[in-house]
Amino acid sequence: MSTAPPVVTIDGPAASGKSSIARLVARRLGFTYVNTGNMYRAMTWAVINAGVDPHSADAVRAAAAGVVLESPVVEGRTQVCVAGHTLTDAELNSDSVNKAVSLIARVAEVRERLVADQRALIAIGPLVMEGRDIGSVVFPDSPHKIYVDASEEVRASRRSAQGHADQVAERDRMDKQRKASPLVIPEGAKVIDNSHITLEQAVEQVIAALKL
Ligand code: DC
Repeated sequence: MSTAPPVVTIDGPAASGKSSIARLVARRLGFTYVNTGNMYRAMTWAVINAGVDPHSADAVRAAAAGVVLESPVVEGRTQVCVAGHTLTDAELNSDSVNKAVSLIARVAEVRERLVADQRALIAIGPLVMEGRDIGSVVFPDSPHKIYVDASEEVRASRRSAQGHADQVAERDRMDKQRKASPLVIPEGAKVIDNSHITLEQAVEQVIAALKL
């Protein structure tokens, strides 16, 4: 039997509601919450700030290799720090980061590096980790896999309600079609569509599906 701490994996498309669900599930379980999208966003922020063209995979690869990224735990969740600076929500969700993040996330070397960082976070203890490839690539052996979905209309209206000018459909297209670990429903994942249920109902469905 494995003695590794459990990892609840929560994957799904942009603005599907998975962050809100994952945060509440982590709180209910007393597990540390890890938002891996913020790790890709932090890397994107660092690369753009270095003046690198996000369309140039070679330039992104070179710049990303020199980025020092840390994930300290504060109040039950990981933060993202670049060279000692803790990124704010405004920095992580800026229009320029929204536009470039899928370009950065499709570079295989960036993914390899961040996947290794994500696996190392198991040293913290039990985790709820959300992203695009957590159940398929980062922790494929976890028996606790969830895939959160919502209709495209619901996702676009959630994003605009948050005040972000974010091309959800375009980001999804790139995240699903990229060569390096595209967004998929992981094998063995329980699919929860939360288009027409409340956040509390979705959290209940996740907790009910887990065999912890
Ligand atoms: O969860 P989010 O919308 O904040 O993620 C931002 C982007 O990061 C997303 O469009 C694709 C990328 N991402 C990824 O490729 N793999 C992950 N595990 C998490 C996010």
